[in-house]
Amino acid sequence: MTAENLKWWQKTIVYQIYPKSFQDTTGSGTGDLNGVTQHLDYLKNLGVGAIWLTPVYPSPQVDNGYDISNYTEIDSAYGTMKDFENLIAEADKRGIKIVMDLVFNHSSDKHEWFLESKKNRTNEKADWYIWRDAKPDGTPPTNWRGIFGGSAWTWNEQRQQYYLHSFAKEQPDLNWENPAVRQALFDAANFWLKKGVGGFRIDAIVYIKKPAEFKDGTPDSDGLASVHDVYANTAGILDFLHEFKAKVFDGHDIFTVGEANSVKPEELKFWVGNDGVFDMLFEFSHVNIMFPDGEAWHKPQIWKLTDLKKVITESQKATAQNGWYPIYFENHDKPRSVNHFFPQGTDTVKAAKVLAAILLTMRGTPFIFEGEELGFTNVAWDSIESYNDIGSHGQFQLMLQEGLTVSKALKFVHRFSRDNARTPMQWSDKKNAGFSTGTPWLPVNENYKTVNAEIEEKNSDSVLNWYRKLVQLRAGHAELIGGDYKLLLPDNEEIFAFSRSLNGNTLITAVNFSNEKVALPPDFIDKKILLDSESGADKNILKPFEARILQG
Ligand code: NOJ
Repeated sequence: MTAENLKWWQKTIVYQIYPKSFQDTTGSGTGDLNGVTQHLDYLKNLGVGAIWLTPVYPSPQVDNGYDISNYTEIDSAYGTMKDFENLIAEADKRGIKIVMDLVFNHSSDKHEWFLESKKNRTNEKADWYIWRDAKPDGTPPTNWRGIFGGSAWTWNEQRQQYYLHSFAKEQPDLNWENPAVRQALFDAANFWLKKGVGGFRIDAIVYIKKPAEFKDGTPDSDGLASVHDVYANTAGILDFLHEFKAKVFDGHDIFTVGEANSVKPEELKFWVGNDGVFDMLFEFSHVNIMFPDGEAWHKPQIWKLTDLKKVITESQKATAQNGWYPIYFENHDKPRSVNHFFPQGTDTVKAAKVLAAILLTMRGTPFIFEGEELGFTNVAWDSIESYNDIGSHGQFQLMLQEGLTVSKALKFVHRFSRDNARTPMQWSDKKNAGFSTGTPWLPVNENYKTVNAEIEEKNSDSVLNWYRKLVQLRAGHAELIGGDYKLLLPDNEEIFAFSRSLNGNTLITAVNFSNEKVALPPDFIDKKILLDSESGADKNILKPFEARILQG
């Protein structure tokens, strides 16, 4: 494959925006669409060609917009449809596409479809959601646990039935078996295509197909079985998705990226590429490297660099000939990567540069999450009440149930809470980091006086300027776009190294994940250093957390 015959989205960089936390232009404390428009030049300077907006549709915000009450409108908290159209137009002037988040596994319980569906068992939308009778003793139909904790079933008095929700009770699952439901969802996606969006990120898509028979799963210690273990990626799911592709995606110059926790590298060929349903798939093996057996926050396991290299390389291999890989270390559901992949006490500026070097030189489309390019870090608030994230509350309750003390449980919340990624963007050292003149919906990270865009802009050695150097390097080297990936030093526990080769040209990325100096093997030493995160680079060694790009 040459760089020339790749599609636009294979050659670009995607920037993920959590609009609620990006820029507030009204003083409401909540970011908005005009705030995104305001910073388009910042993104253009970063080399961004597409923005993935997390949901901006009307929503009661139980799960910050992933509970949608109208699929074809803009939430007034974020602005108007005119603001959205203006964003598309302004982005377009800068060569940037807007990518929407489709949340089609579930809607909000305030969506008119659900309000109708719950009225009785005979209404027009009676089977748009998944309803079942109680067991004879009145308990839920199965022992399934929702992903945010507690039973995945909630009783509805009006219908005298339970409804299923893979996530919170305010997020009832839509019934994809019903063709009218599928068509309504496809119509919604087509609505946004007509507005000129450049693609879609498709949320929680592995849960849309439920098992033919509803029966109990193997219970965990709380007596419940995670819906994830029971029905993620169930046989038959791809039929729905091929229909989705045919009725929505085909024939448009867009990209699609599905969120697919549980699709294994060997299954990728059915999901992406020529015979697949999406262009790319976010899989979780590297970001969940500490959770090989399910994501209970209090049970993280020790992992080694070789484990991380292995899972990343497996995904690279699986998409080498067919399909394409979305490279990411952060999103709005994960802690900040400098905390997630490095031990406490690590110099987070150096750590951010290490990850950036991988992100921007690996094969695939890099996805940068807002603030990652500035080296944002986790927060640690004193009480669970300070946390907004519904997932953090669920995990906290689970930990208490399992006998952890409040302070121990809080430590895991500090480490893994999704709010770590959701604190407001830090634009400057002004009030509220320049995010809002009002009271931010979530507190700003205390480090904003030293970690912010304005300050980093002026510092040639900042994380932001390191990103820019890498972006420039990427733009000038076709091998970084279309070149083959090969893992080097697979057994080395300190250095993550790989090569990218195209038409006889090779670049090598070598980063030191450890806090020790490490000697480089002889064949790295005679190569030309193109970029280095440390000044005064020594050809023979990598300093702690040093990142280097070599040629040859
Ligand atoms: C994945 C989204 O990224 C996450 O934020 C959300 O809570 C769940 N899906 C449910 O929609």
